[in-house]
Amino acid sequence: MTSSNSSSQFVICIDMELTIALLVLLVMKPGSMTASWSVTFKDPDICAVRGSSVKFRCSYNYADGETVQKTAWYKGQSEGGIWRRVELSVLPLYQNRTEYQGDRHHDCSLVIHDLQHNDTGYYYFRFDTDRYGWRSKASVHLSVTELSVRVYPVTVRAGDNVTLQCGTSCQPSSTVWFKDGRPGAKPEFQAQAEDSGNYMCAIEGQKLLRSGPVALDVQYPPLNVSIEVSHPGPLANGSVNLTCSSAANPAADSYTWYKRTDSFSSSSLLQVGSGQVLSLQVVEKSHRGAYLCQARNSLGENNSTEVPLAAEETDIDLQIILIGIGVKVGILVLLSLALIWVWRHRCNSAVDEEEYVNDYENISISQPHGFTENHV
Ligand SMILES: *[C@@H]1O[C@H](CO)[C@@H](O)[C@H](O)[C@H]1NC(C)=O
Ligand SMILES: *[C@@H]1O[C@H](CO)[C@@H](O)[C@H](O)[C@H]1NC(C)=O
Ligand SMILES: *[C@@H]1O[C@H](CO)[C@@H](O)[C@H](O)[C@H]1NC(C)=O
Ligand SMILES: *[C@@H]1O[C@H](CO)[C@@H](O)[C@H](O)[C@H]1NC(C)=O
Ligand SMILES: *[C@@H]1O[C@H](CO)[C@@H](O)[C@H](O)[C@H]1NC(C)=O
Ligand SMILES: *[C@@H]1O[C@H](CO)[C@@H](O)[C@H](O)[C@H]1NC(C)=O
Repeated sequence: MTSSNSSSQFVICIDMELTIALLVLLVMKPGSMTASWSVTFKDPDICAVRGSSVKFRCSYNYADGETVQKTAWYKGQSEGGIWRRVELSVLPLYQNRTEYQGDRHHDCSLVIHDLQHNDTGYYYFRFDTDRYGWRSKASVHLSVTELSVRVYPVTVRAGDNVTLQCGTSCQPSSTVWFKDGRPGAKPEFQAQAEDSGNYMCAIEGQKLLRSGPVALDVQYPPLNVSIEVSHPGPLANGSVNLTCSSAANPAADSYTWYKRTDSFSSSSLLQVGSGQVLSLQVVEKSHRGAYLCQARNSLGENNSTEVPLAAEETDIDLQIILIGIGVKVGILVLLSLALIWVWRHRCNSAVDEEEYVNDYENISISQPHGFTENHV
């Protein structure tokens, strides 16, 4: 306390000296000095995240011919209702955390590492030449903030409008969003299954320092319901397992199996089982058909597409049918051929008889001599 008191008294003394000196100089050389003595802060209002480092960019000017002997940063503190500037080097809170990156020429930048909440405040710079001291009239204001993400609503279902908020005590500053470590997330959207993930926010310009992650868990009814057949393709006799899988949050907890039974007039779905796996023990003709599964969770249900299941007997049956048809056709053809043959034979013999009779008549009537001659 005594040291800061004496230092501020010292500051006031220097200030008075400087003011007198300035007045003298102004009288002597109007305009030549006020322009050259200055301290400029590039960014006078800084918001930084707790734990990060901050740099006060600063430059200073003084009259030609002066040599800088001392530079120092101060923090404005209220002590017993009196506002004082206390040199950082005497404050234990800043030991090892401050780094003067300026020099004794024109750069007066200061870096503070591992920012704490009570670093929030006003900072000033001061330099002393051989003859004068100059302290900045303006200050750098630093606010140290915590970042925290909030998600509204608390439980999110697909289709809900989601709002992410980045909590910070800084003045309104633009925030950037990360999803699963990748930048570019939007803070307002209509939730879909794929929006689940960890969200973080950061202040624009300080993207390396992020809030803690907050998980967004979008709940949705089953999607992408599909059936996996343990032995795809035509099935020999034996067992086959149909497994129903789906993307759902929470995971699907109930499954129903349907089979489409086709008849010529109509087709209908028959419930044939439940559970994630449908085991068909002996695949036989009666198992043929199209299967579909329905997955359900607390939010709803959805169906897979129909998966046709064909047993190998199909081919055998078809062959039998084909052979059957072939045989029948063959028999029919043979029968008709036989009938035709019989019919034609009968007709032919009738004609033959007729012809014979005619021949006979011809022979007997018109060719009696020839007939006799032939037999001679
Ligand atoms: C600063 O650092 C030195 C050496 O690294 C250490 O001995 C000292 O305790 C530190 N002071 C504070 C206040 O952390
Ligand atoms: C500043 O904050 C740090 C950590 O939050 C604490 O350890 C320290 O005592 C505080 N110092 C003052 C002067 O309030
Ligand atoms: C069923 O799932 C499909 C995608 O697999 C999806 O497009 C459709 O909206 C879902 N239907 C319902 C009622 O959830
Ligand atoms: C559903 O399938 C589509 C296409 O394969 C995929 O892009 C999507 O991520 C899937 N949905 C879920 C919730 O897994
Ligand atoms: C079907 O699943 C049962 C038990 O889940 C298993 O014992 C059987 O080997 C499986 N059958 C096939 C054809 O994968
Ligand atoms: C799924 O199939 C069942 C049985 O046919 C039907 O009642 C239900 O409406 C279907 N659900 C969807 C989402 O298509």
